[in-house]
Amino acid sequence: MAARVLGVTTLVRDLGLWRPDGGRGARPTYVALAEGIRMLIHDGRIPLGAALPSERDLASALELSRTTVTSCYAMLREEGYLLSRQGARGVVALPSSTTPVGVGLPAPKVAPDLPLVDLTYAALPAPEEVHGAYSAALEQLPSYLPTHGMDPLGIPLLRETIAARYTERGLPTDPTQILVTLGAQHALRLLFTMLTAPGERVLIEHPTYPNAIQAIRDVGARPVPLPLRPEREGWDLDGIRSAARQTAARLAYLVPDFQNPTGLCLGVEGRAELASIARDTRMTMVIDESMVDLGLDMTPPPPVASFARGPEVITVGSMSKSFWGGLRVGWIRANRTVIDRLLGSRASMDLGTPVMDQLAAADLLADPDGPLERRRELIRGRRSALLDALSEQLPDWRVAPGPGGLSLWVKLPGPMSSALAATAPNFGVTLAAGPRFGIEGAFERFIRLPYAQSEADLRLAISGIAAAYQVVAPRTPAAATAPPLVV
Ligand SMILES: Cc1ncc(COP(=O)(O)O)c(C=O)c1O
Repeated sequence: MAARVLGVTTLVRDLGLWRPDGGRGARPTYVALAEGIRMLIHDGRIPLGAALPSERDLASALELSRTTVTSCYAMLREEGYLLSRQGARGVVALPSSTTPVGVGLPAPKVAPDLPLVDLTYAALPAPEEVHGAYSAALEQLPSYLPTHGMDPLGIPLLRETIAARYTERGLPTDPTQILVTLGAQHALRLLFTMLTAPGERVLIEHPTYPNAIQAIRDVGARPVPLPLRPEREGWDLDGIRSAARQTAARLAYLVPDFQNPTGLCLGVEGRAELASIARDTRMTMVIDESMVDLGLDMTPPPPVASFARGPEVITVGSMSKSFWGGLRVGWIRANRTVIDRLLGSRASMDLGTPVMDQLAAADLLADPDGPLERRRELIRGRRSALLDALSEQLPDWRVAPGPGGLSLWVKLPGPMSSALAATAPNFGVTLAAGPRFGIEGAFERFIRLPYAQSEADLRLAISGIAAAYQVVAPRTPAAATAPPLVV
């Protein structure tokens, strides 16, 4: 089927003031044009799947040479924003690395000599203990080799270790309540598939983790935003209770432990209230504890599930943020009926988590305190470096850091987040724009800045972002004329 062609007049109008300002001179015209088009793609103003105007039409409408437009399209093609079939026009796409993780942008080749700092990921490299854990796993492997090695529940050793950790944290847990998954993302997808139906509503914090939003949408359900208020504890519990009643949502997805992207943590009373909302409204709550070990300024209160009386709270955990994403080990803690039902739906997707990775995870979780404390210390230093660089170079940006997690949720002086994310690669930084963390185009005035990178890289990144800001700010409407904020 032929792709819908974007009108040249529409594109020229939406591009607005895209031309490089003569004073800077550094950015070639084709780069500035590509940047303008990238921004419109990220903003959703150029629909995915549409074909761009022909090079000739665009060149003539913008009074540019054809070569300039050809170079611009070539650049977009190379970055994955334009897909071409032989003989057909290029159609607009998001680079494949952005789609699955929802937070990645490719490294553009604009300035090959510029080192690129990737701030689209809030994930750390492995601590040294991970290598040791795999060596220990290899030693243990021979005892598993005589079996078929595929246990969709997970190996008993790991399930026992995970259950013991919950019990220590004030949530008595039996190993039969644990299902080991291929990371928390897999766990979420399994749960959303089982617990929702197309058209049903799922309450989410707003902003929240982008791949959870996508997973909810992928199963045909509709995310309903619950605004977070960073200036208070974050969660508006009365608002959650009335949203649960008014929308008749059967499911909520929440991250009360050092939430991604805000870093906020819900207190003890709030947790008890959440459990009571779930009970009173007969709503299941999926509590994502991926960040629970990253409390930088506080120890998190006991798990929300410890305040529940029945099966209404399901907990998801992960090795990714605490130890290493490359393990691909996560889990679900739920009552046995839910675990049994999950087993049934898992079989059509995968048959279990690799034994080696589970053994390594069990080794790491057997004695986690030392490595976790060192990890938190490392992250604290990185967060301070990022905050210092921000206050030096971007003093008019506003940030209220949460007590943990891996990122800052920064308020910009105007609605410019997508523009900034589109421009920053030209200055050596890739960024995830605020709207990725919300629905319906919210959060153009916010950007997530992770502090997972080294202090030197974070300083470099902020210099690049500050340079991109100089380019973007003059083209951004004043904050006063911006649409009302959702948070
Ligand atoms: C809140 C949250 N949940 C889940 C995940 C996915 O974790 P995993 O690597 O265990 O799939 C992430 C990763 O960024 C996350 O931030």
